[in-house]
Amino acid sequence: MGVGLQQVRNYRGFQNDESKVVAFDLLHEPKEYVKHFERYATSVVSIIGFGRRVATFTDPIITEVIAVMQRAAELNVPGKTFPMLMESFPFLAKFPNWMAPWKQGLGKGQGRGRPFFYALAEEAVNNPNLENCYARKIFEEAPKHNLSRQEISSLSGNLFGAGSDTSSSTLVTFVLACCAFPETLTKAWEELDRVVGPHRSPTFQDEADLPYVKAFVKEVLRWRSVAIIGGQPHAPIKDDHYKGWLIPRNTWVQGNVWAIHHHEREFPDPDRFNPDRYVKDSPDQRPFPGEKGYMTFGWGRRVCSGQGLAEQGTFITIARLIWGFRIEKALDDQGCEKPVDIFDYTNGLNMRPNPFDCRITPRNTEIRAAIEREGRQALQDLSRYDGETQYRMSTYYAAEKL
Ligand code: HEM
Repeated sequence: MGVGLQQVRNYRGFQNDESKVVAFDLLHEPKEYVKHFERYATSVVSIIGFGRRVATFTDPIITEVIAVMQRAAELNVPGKTFPMLMESFPFLAKFPNWMAPWKQGLGKGQGRGRPFFYALAEEAVNNPNLENCYARKIFEEAPKHNLSRQEISSLSGNLFGAGSDTSSSTLVTFVLACCAFPETLTKAWEELDRVVGPHRSPTFQDEADLPYVKAFVKEVLRWRSVAIIGGQPHAPIKDDHYKGWLIPRNTWVQGNVWAIHHHEREFPDPDRFNPDRYVKDSPDQRPFPGEKGYMTFGWGRRVCSGQGLAEQGTFITIARLIWGFRIEKALDDQGCEKPVDIFDYTNGLNMRPNPFDCRITPRNTEIRAAIEREGRQALQDLSRYDGETQYRMSTYYAAEKL
């Protein structure tokens, strides 16, 4: 897999650069913070998958593909609607397609000619200017594993589905936490000012010296975990026994991440955003199963394969944004702070805060200058990944049918 734990360290360079671009973009268009996060997360995955970056949030990969992915995550809730309705009530799957409206929707357009992501992968492979990428590896391996076009398409498209909405939603949650619990920023600033200073942003090398910032990142991942029921259902391949209970083979098993991360025993006052839960020897620290302290990426054989990539990206981006900015509640016409609602989240397999206004401003002029300088340098370094796909999902299938 292209995002395995060893592999992801190699991605730190462009991931770090893309995160510098996020800080740079926030200086110029702070109100568009959600779009900057989506661009960042999509670009990292696109460089890995197709060897080309996503430079603006008007790139079709974002406007077309991510919109579909978000819709899919919204629908993909057990028992809610297509396609999970058929998982909950298998008899619904037995109806012929023409008389089953619940079978229309996401599957539409699949199976004809070349699927969309196959075309993107093929485009990447045929472009000699593009760097070595996951798509190229898939094409090399395809004959060995007898992969169909549909499988190649799913393998490369999966990266976007799994990696983009999840990573950007986590960053939106981070902004909400900063607005709702400003007292936690003071400690993080003290640490960052002491270890990093105003003339450069934090790097991966600083990580060991930033225990509070690391705790902050863990708390973001716990407080409002994006994949709230741990992603797709699992099933044991043979009968299993757990604490005297029999779990028969093939039983649908779903982890309730929300309940686990909100258990008063391990996380007292669980809706309070409190990084001290993860600070060694703090009175708020509790032993939690596993040293990591959260289960945000699932369990077992189907655990998130992008976990290492997501963790290092979340760390460097959150560290950089705390270092660089005041992130505060928006003001109303009277100059009073508008409250934020920490429960106002979307409803789906993946969740993120519903849109809210906030103020994101650089902490001081030296920091502003460092963000400008680093952002411009990062854009220059990333320019080798520049390029735009010729395909548009909205017109793709119509053209393929001709
Ligand atoms: C904060 C960001 C992310 C979160 C919270 C997250 C969470 C998850 C969760 C809960 C699952 C299901 C695990 C299970 O079934 O037990 C999953 C699966 C997966 N994730 Fe992530 N993920 C994130 C980012 C990423 C990224 C950046 C990538 C890759 C670029 C990625 C690739 C995958 C893949 C390929 C799977 C399917 C694994 C399988 O079924 O074998 N994820 N993720």
